[in-house]
Amino acid sequence: MAFDIEMIKKVYDNMASRVDAAREMVGRPLTLTEKILYSHLWEGQAKEAYKRGVDYVDFAPDRVACQDATAQMALLQFMHAGKSKVAVPTTVHCDHLIQAKVGASTDLAVANKQSKEVFDFLSSVSNKYGIGFWRPGSGIIHQIVLENYAFPGGMMIGTDSHTVNAGGLGMLAIGVGGADAVDVMSGMSWELKFPKLIGVKLTGKLSGWTAPKDVILKVADILTVKGGTGAVVEYFGEGATSMSCTGKGTICNMGAEIGATTSTFGYDDSMRRYLSATGRQDVVDAADKVASYLTADPEVYANPKEYFDQLIEINLSELEPHINGPFTPDRGTPVSQMKAEAEANGWPIKVEWGLIGSCTNSSYEDMSRAASIVRQAVAHGITPKAEFGINPGSEQIRYTIERDGIIADFEKMGTKVFTNACGPCIGQWDRAGADKGEKNTIVHSFNRNFSKRADGNPNTHAFVTSPEMVAALAISGRLDFNPMTDTLLNDNGEEVKLVAPEGDELPNRGFDVEDAGFQAPAEDGSSVQIMVDPASDRLQLLAPFASWDKKNISGAKLLIKAFGKCTTDHISMAGPWLRYRGHLDNISNNMLIGAVNAFNQKTNSVKNQLTGDYDAVPAVARAYKAVGVPSIVVGDQNYGEGSSREHAAMEPRFLGVKAVLVKSFARIHETNLKKQGMLALTFANEADYDKVQEDDTINFLDLTEFAPGKPLKLEFVHANGSKDIILANHSYNESQIGWFVAGSALNLIAAEA
Ligand code: F3S
Repeated sequence: MAFDIEMIKKVYDNMASRVDAAREMVGRPLTLTEKILYSHLWEGQAKEAYKRGVDYVDFAPDRVACQDATAQMALLQFMHAGKSKVAVPTTVHCDHLIQAKVGASTDLAVANKQSKEVFDFLSSVSNKYGIGFWRPGSGIIHQIVLENYAFPGGMMIGTDSHTVNAGGLGMLAIGVGGADAVDVMSGMSWELKFPKLIGVKLTGKLSGWTAPKDVILKVADILTVKGGTGAVVEYFGEGATSMSCTGKGTICNMGAEIGATTSTFGYDDSMRRYLSATGRQDVVDAADKVASYLTADPEVYANPKEYFDQLIEINLSELEPHINGPFTPDRGTPVSQMKAEAEANGWPIKVEWGLIGSCTNSSYEDMSRAASIVRQAVAHGITPKAEFGINPGSEQIRYTIERDGIIADFEKMGTKVFTNACGPCIGQWDRAGADKGEKNTIVHSFNRNFSKRADGNPNTHAFVTSPEMVAALAISGRLDFNPMTDTLLNDNGEEVKLVAPEGDELPNRGFDVEDAGFQAPAEDGSSVQIMVDPASDRLQLLAPFASWDKKNISGAKLLIKAFGKCTTDHISMAGPWLRYRGHLDNISNNMLIGAVNAFNQKTNSVKNQLTGDYDAVPAVARAYKAVGVPSIVVGDQNYGEGSSREHAAMEPRFLGVKAVLVKSFARIHETNLKKQGMLALTFANEADYDKVQEDDTINFLDLTEFAPGKPLKLEFVHANGSKDIILANHSYNESQIGWFVAGSALNLIAAEA
């Protein structure tokens, strides 16, 4: 599992010259975020100063990480890139496809059986292409990345929104869609809008019941779930340096909940301690040589208002523990106000379950502090009033806390130890009775608490808080319990007051593990066979999309004119469809089923022009495809907003849609369409959307002259024989036109390989 120290040294070797050049270019001191961005430019040294929130810039990330749900399609695509190995260090982590039900050993065995073909596939592709593979049960992607791969000043992307967790070790780590991961794994650049910067100055020091989690719960309360959009949050100040590295990880992790691109902290002693404790003293030695480049220039933190687009100040000495929720992580309630809030809002007071762990709060510090509360309850003879569960973030953490007696402490309270995996955090929780849909309250130390997320019950009120608060609330069985002021009754009816939690930042005896669950790839993977059962309904090898025949597209049928909002969820729904993420044919049966047909205002009901009948969108698309008739999709404003999921572009491509013509695109989806060899077009005149009729046949008049900056002419032939010529703009540059010609970006990479 060895991390790549040579790669890290190379990053540091470039750092000084690139950052110095950027400072010169920008003409002022630089934040840490800017230093990392400018030292990871695809072009090498900066040639211009980029405008925050405006310029799109190509970067060269150092690492890629994928989780098992998103890795399937990413790896299926990568197999077409014609490469023998990934271009940058990459890991795959099996953590999302494991249910929490009975307890670790049973649940893991069930998952290994149920998802065997997926795990086997990911394992063999990883083995073949030089990708580190973390087996089911090894742990959660972000905890493993923090323990093994994150490093100060680095840049990584990951196919999961909480990739941002690695900011705890001073990285810029960003969650992306599979298409972006494939690009970087294939040796291409990765594009990002140069972010805005939010500074968070932490003064004072955490103490008593307050934990790092409370910092981000407070920030979420201030900024709301959208407040960080398009921005990197940079934390600094004495409060930041006095906090543990894993605590910083928790804060960065939940930066995803405020919509931030990512969050980060400057290199400090807490990072040195953590790196050293996790066997990476050589990273410390390398980082120390460039330490001044791994934090902002001193002027920035001395006068932050001048350098950040927005500044927030939090005094940790005054910060109260927070409990955020229900149903949204930005609804913050300080513990002292919970009684009144819960009463006023009718939230169920009785806590049914307390859950700790996940990628958000799985550190040794988290576990030992929560255990200190549990130990008090046991010592005082208090029977906990709620059930209690843990999903440890990694086997290394689980093994170490078992060795140190922490698991035994939890088990004395009847705690269920689930697999080292996402489990309840991603709805993989087979909670007894959840199907009854009863109104109830749970508390957890995870990051997200949207309706249905944990157990599928829309009436479960989930509250997010720190692990030690979860322990206290679960023991008391009350949401309005304030451990700082309230007492509990033990089994003899005596009053007991809990003492503030205590714990160790890092294990005194060091971390330990017997089998971390890592599979190193073959040195030479050329002979490794990738096995996919042709009868599988979950996995399907991809065939390259056909290249353009250099002719105008003619006789295309309108598949759907989507009305109003059409997000990637409308185009490729999630939920039960997640099962088919690795099977393009099967998942294509959800294509555009959530989009509203402008002609009848119904979802998943469009006219098949060949028969005159109305049918599901995928069925009509398949009917056209079967007889070789191309189709096009028309849409409204901001088409494809939402996630970066590449399925939303692959499915129409697979089902024979040639072009998507809309009033405007969400940029990531537009790029994804281009990458899949589709035509992503916008109405030159938005009002032309109204000219599109249900029975239209579309002919491209000048696609043979497709060139950057030159609009395309499309002829819409209506049912009565009348015609409208519509002008369509596009944003293809020369190389993107190359993707279209080749049939997809990957086809082009493969041709060049
Ligand atoms: Fe997994 Fe939940 Fe983290 S789903 S990756 S534990 S946010």
